Amino acid sequence: MIADRMGSIRPFYVMELLARARALESAGRSIIHMEVGEPDFETPKPIIEAGKRALDEGHTHYTPAVGIPELRAAIGSDYRRRYGVQLDPSRVLVTPGSSGALQLVMSILVNPGEAVMMADPGYPCNRHFVRLVSGVPVTVPVGPETGYQLTAEIIAREWRENMRAVMVASPSNPTGTLIRHAELEKIHRVVNERGGMLIVDEIYQGLVYGAEPFTALQITDDLFIINSFSKYYGMTGWRLGWMIAPERHIAAADRLAQNIFLSAPTPAQYAALAAFGEETQSIVEQRREAFRDRRDYLLPALRGLGFEIPVEPEGAFYLYANCRKITQDSFAFAHELLEAEGVAITPGRDFGDNLPEQHVRFAYTTSMEKLAEGVARIARFIDR
Ligand SMILES: Cc1ncc(COP(=O)(O)O)c(C=O)c1O
Repeated sequence: MIADRMGSIRPFYVMELLARARALESAGRSIIHMEVGEPDFETPKPIIEAGKRALDEGHTHYTPAVGIPELRAAIGSDYRRRYGVQLDPSRVLVTPGSSGALQLVMSILVNPGEAVMMADPGYPCNRHFVRLVSGVPVTVPVGPETGYQLTAEIIAREWRENMRAVMVASPSNPTGTLIRHAELEKIHRVVNERGGMLIVDEIYQGLVYGAEPFTALQITDDLFIINSFSKYYGMTGWRLGWMIAPERHIAAADRLAQNIFLSAPTPAQYAALAAFGEETQSIVEQRREAFRDRRDYLLPALRGLGFEIPVEPEGAFYLYANCRKITQDSFAFAHELLEAEGVAITPGRDFGDNLPEQHVRFAYTTSMEKLAEGVARIARFIDR
């Protein structure tokens, strides 16, 4: 017996592709990984050292459900330092990955049958977090005209009676595009006027190239922010994220976290205290520059091969390309490219129902040399 809701939880197709890539690799094939949604860099040394120290010092027990006070305070101070916003640490809730925060926020806000609006293409798990609480994900097709993002105008047009929340991500996965400060202000106004709640996923916030970084907290306190140590701090496997909640929702979030998580991983929380030190900050800054260099190489290289990337991605580590001039079936293309040339990319199908067969995502989470080799192999594959 299995619950009905499981019928609407789709697999991550890229995982199948990754499994096949790994199998080919163990059979001795050389594989260029451009499918993986996590940094290739190891966790910065000072964080690893702090994690080891935490274990030696016996930090292996549960912590308060929403995190150790030192880490909540450190996250709060970082917002002050970077963006000049005053943030009471009591509003910072530390979670098992931002995935934990997403589970909390949907559970707190959404009644069965209520809807949450989000962009298509978008991070696939968001739809499933809504379904998990018997909510209804309303995915709205977006394209290059709006930088693959929802706008205030689209939200007003698509609003429905049962809409409870709107979720946006800036920078976005899979498109790497941003929402500008002025537009986000308008988005908040439109959602707020209709009695909904805005949720902003800022998990790729540290990874912005060129544009002036900001946080939605500069606009208002009346929203949920989702963030994580996974991407900018290279800590995907430590499972540590956070949420910033409006004051009136803190108690509910705490109560729920107590029940479903008990706490985020304790050694990871102590390790993350080292994320805000000067040494780590300089390491992650250098990495951000390396990602920018990779984007600057890969974007024109892929365009040169016939992939259409009409909006310059300004963040994260993804390029989302329209491949209609090359193939009418991105899923088959991704699989054939892997078999023939050993290059792994993610087919559009993972990111929604908006022309998935015309899109693929490239992750520049591998070295410049490997990217160049990948581009050469893709060129050879297309020329066949
Ligand atoms: C947009 C977005 N949000 C959330 C997550 C979840 O990350 P984590 O649970 O590691 O913090 C991801 C991971 O790829 C993501 O791309």
